[in-house]
Amino acid sequence: MPDNPFILEPFKSKEYFCDREQETEKIIRNITNGRDTTLISPRRLGKTGLILRVFEEIRERNLPYETIYADISDTLSLEEFIKVISEAVVAKLKKQRWITAFFKSIGSVRPLLGLDPITGSPQVSFTFADENQKQSTLKDVLSFLEGYSQKIVLAIDEFQQIREYEGVNMEAILRKHIQHMHNVRLIFCGSKKHTMTDMFTNAKNPFYESTSFCYLDKLPVPVYSSFIKSKFELAGKAIGDEVLDYILDWTRVHTYYTQRLCNEVFSISGNIVDMTIVLKASQAILDSERERFREIRRLLTRAQWKMLGAIAKEGNVTQITSSTFLSKYGISSGPTALRNIRALIDKELVLANTDEKTTSYSVYNVFLSRFLAME
Ligand SMILES: Nc1ncnc2c1ncn2[C@@H]1O[C@H](COP(=O)(O)OP(=O)(O)OP(=O)(O)O)[C@@H](O)[C@H]1O
Ligand SMILES: [Mg+2]
Repeated sequence: MPDNPFILEPFKSKEYFCDREQETEKIIRNITNGRDTTLISPRRLGKTGLILRVFEEIRERNLPYETIYADISDTLSLEEFIKVISEAVVAKLKKQRWITAFFKSIGSVRPLLGLDPITGSPQVSFTFADENQKQSTLKDVLSFLEGYSQKIVLAIDEFQQIREYEGVNMEAILRKHIQHMHNVRLIFCGSKKHTMTDMFTNAKNPFYESTSFCYLDKLPVPVYSSFIKSKFELAGKAIGDEVLDYILDWTRVHTYYTQRLCNEVFSISGNIVDMTIVLKASQAILDSERERFREIRRLLTRAQWKMLGAIAKEGNVTQITSSTFLSKYGISSGPTALRNIRALIDKELVLANTDEKTTSYSVYNVFLSRFLAME
């Protein structure tokens, strides 16, 4: 039995990663030309995977950079930010003398090094005397990177999270230090387009026009389709074009959902992948998610759930306050619709897609959308 080629983690190796050649090239060009990058896409489309893909490419081309990845999605304060960055740094330092140097550089806050008992990754803890000491420690950490023996690429994932820190203007503090750094190139990554765009394109904000933008879109259908086909065929499984079209359509080419369905189809199929198998796989996925969907339902008001269902049935809605849409789904008024849609966007249950002229809404989680549409 061959390994399932449809991975469900952000990145394993190039072999299991579809395309993103241009994006990879662009980010590498930014790095080697001294530009920082802002990478934005909706959730579960492949940002983290792309960062790790870029890191692999840097290694394969022997480019002279050490790569550091830090995910700050769970941080709520400057203190936690320092901790996550420090742990990411320590995880990458191979030589003991650099680890010693790092700890010496932040020595005033008595850092302690431990190991996570489950993952074995380094854990760093600090004792801060006051707010000032946090700020000076952040400076020390960044100065250490600036003085490191090799050039560094530091990717900060879910960067918009710094707006949640209370009592500090994190953008101003970070920008102040970062703008003087030459040894470190940054990749700021985030899924909240509105916040990320505001941070980097609003003249009032510290990071205004300091980076090169990369918007990650869905994979091109023909490219993804032939990737999927080749993976099935390599394992001796024949798959026809209409089946491929169905898979991509049902999952809306939203990478995580497509991978998940392909993973399931692969696991239950024999030498021929036909529609019966695909329908069985998609049903199995919806069944396994049912409890989670119920949980979401419990967290919403009746009106919000109804709104979510209406959007799911439409697939994609542009006229959210039109009388046609309101009366079709028994929504009392335009303002009610807008209030509910805002709540759903806030909870990341609805994705708002804005282009020059219109905003369209869809259910963020494709499986939930398919589930609701059948209800
Ligand atoms: N180019 C790709 N080829 C194959 N699978 C991919 C690709 N990009 C992403 N994936 C799949 O999609 C999933 C989501 O990707 P990833 O975690 O990188 O997205 P993300 O944009 O960082 O999401 P989030 O915002 O939730 O952190 C991965 O676990 C992987 O299964
Ligand atoms: Mg991610």
